[in-house]
Amino acid sequence: MKIINTVKAMQQEADSLRMAGKRIGLVPTMGALHDGHLSLLTMAKEKSDIVVVSIFVNPTQFGPDEDLDAYPRDFDRDERLLIRAGADIIYYPAVDEMYPTSYHTYVTVDTLTEKLCGASRPGHFRGVTTIVTKLFNAVKPHCAVFGEKDFQQVAVIRRMAVDLNMDVEIITAPIVREKDSLAMSSRNNYLSIEERQDALILYNSLEKARKLIREGMRDVDKISKAIEALILEKDNVSIDYINLIHPGTLEDIQHIEDSVQIVLAVFVGKIRLIDNLRVDL
Ligand code: PAF
Repeated sequence: MKIINTVKAMQQEADSLRMAGKRIGLVPTMGALHDGHLSLLTMAKEKSDIVVVSIFVNPTQFGPDEDLDAYPRDFDRDERLLIRAGADIIYYPAVDEMYPTSYHTYVTVDTLTEKLCGASRPGHFRGVTTIVTKLFNAVKPHCAVFGEKDFQQVAVIRRMAVDLNMDVEIITAPIVREKDSLAMSSRNNYLSIEERQDALILYNSLEKARKLIREGMRDVDKISKAIEALILEKDNVSIDYINLIHPGTLEDIQHIEDSVQIVLAVFVGKIRLIDNLRVDL
């Protein structure tokens, strides 16, 4: 397995792989890898000849009051996991390699980024779309794999790829959950034992919504209120958003007639966690 640290070296490697007829798959990550990331790698291996995993904690997608400095970083552990899982290349650039002091260019996707996580994390998606564009330009992948836990992120990246005519196939992989159904996330590392228990409310409330829909409830207001009440029974938990949206357009739904994506963001203590679930009628 190779480790590549510079844009130039990554582009040269990508060019020679492409010349040799290899299909390149990219798994963009911020490190602190867990089984969710490894499932993206497995998917990328199925879809390509050479898998590049990028590890870069991207400063531009963190707000001023967010956890950039505290974000878990352990390159040696990530490297061991990636060797064992069969990655071919780790692309691991430093911050000043990606954002030298002369840096001034950002990629923004309108509208889709204004709601849900975009509303509570201003500038977050601008950082994501900018770094993903830069990763695409360095790694030159034929396909890139993203996790469905970040439901809005996937929609935004798909929009960007289509709108900017990027020649990259965007592939998604299902959410990987712990045994007790908590969606895997690097931020789970921050939870205390009690908070870890409280965090189960995310999946439990999604399940509750699914049950209500299965039992025939179609009024989104009523479903939202029912799961809000369930979440607010917990003292240490507060709601950022709960929305029932159209899975394709991300538009809010008032009355369920077809497929619906239930998306939520919840603070457990100070830790903001997200999850989502799709229900098809
Ligand atoms: O999902 C993530 O880990 C990040 O947002 C990504 C796509 C690697 C961009 O920094």
